[in-house]
Amino acid sequence: MLKKSIITGVGHYVPQNVVTNNDLSARMSTSNEWIIERTGIQERRHVLPGSDDTTATMGTKAARIAIANAGLTPDDIDFIVFATLSPDYYFPGPGVQVQEQLELKREIGALDVRNQCSGFVYSLSVADQFIKTGMYKNILIIGSELHSGGLDFTDRGRNVSVIFGDGAGAVVLSATDDANRGILSTHLFSEGKHAKELALTAPSTRDWIPNILQRNDPEETDYYPYMNGNFVFKHAVVRFAEAIQAALKTNGVSSEEIKLLIPHQANLRISQFIQQSMKLRDDQVYNNIMRYGNTTAASIPIALSEAYAEGRIEKGDLVLFAAFGSGFTWASALMRW
Ligand code: UT7
Repeated sequence: MLKKSIITGVGHYVPQNVVTNNDLSARMSTSNEWIIERTGIQERRHVLPGSDDTTATMGTKAARIAIANAGLTPDDIDFIVFATLSPDYYFPGPGVQVQEQLELKREIGALDVRNQCSGFVYSLSVADQFIKTGMYKNILIIGSELHSGGLDFTDRGRNVSVIFGDGAGAVVLSATDDANRGILSTHLFSEGKHAKELALTAPSTRDWIPNILQRNDPEETDYYPYMNGNFVFKHAVVRFAEAIQAALKTNGVSSEEIKLLIPHQANLRISQFIQQSMKLRDDQVYNNIMRYGNTTAASIPIALSEAYAEGRIEKGDLVLFAAFGSGFTWASALMRW
């Protein structure tokens, strides 16, 4: 019989430096009122220049907490899956940095997943397959992002730069023989025709940094993230619902039975829209975007770690994860805790 996979440990780490909406309005034409009204965000964390925090080290810090929370030691980890869109290096990805920082044995693989805002749910799905087949027992899954070093904090980039924040979350996914618990399904989707609607397109191997320096064009902004905000928003509300419905339908579960939906923290207005359309009560949806902004691949594991610490999830509860973002990619995972 196939094994089931359960989350046995959670953890998160965010940099100490809090950046409020008013801090941002001192740097560009925006306001606390605009940001709260359109996104629900009140503050986010930014790594301070010169600090030791990087995407990889924040991921390692979150991972240490998750491993201890699982009652394990780093030696018990069989495999690493690291999701990020903001790696320390263009290559290699940060999975191998975690292998080194945690002083893990060499016999474990380190896999890097892209998939941006859906990165954590995609990673959960990948790890679930390795556990189901019996190949691995304990897999470390990390979502970590350092956005603040790469955003355009002028008026030009304000629709993007007010949203994103830095931080990391991690879980340990472990094998169980308990047939009543674990991941019940994962659903993954993609639609590449919208790739450029939310993207960072430079530098790229078809137009590398010397070309950009040679052009020296102050109007050129391809090396900052671009988002067609309205377009992305409209697709997000439809695609989140699609991924969630796929999970419910596959498992014959109704929305009343969901103990907690943890959506990717894209925008509080998107979460509220989904909550309304699914007719969920406030206590069935977890949001913390108010305090951290959108941390992309890190947002679900950070929210899960906080929700768990607050006692919002107990053994036997149905927990639903859903995400949508750049690609476009979107995904859901339903689990019995
Ligand atoms: O995580 C992955 C998926 N991401 C998402 O799902 C995000 C989806 N999109 C959004 O959340 C929203 O589109 C935003 C929050 C990014 C923007 O909100 P919006 O209501 O779609 O605003 P908009 O881009 O249509 O801009 C409305 C107005 C514009 O001014 P005019 O042209 O009406 O004069 C913008 O220039 O708001 C202006 N604006 C701002 N004003 C103050 C844009 N950004 C800002 C800002 N502060 N930060």
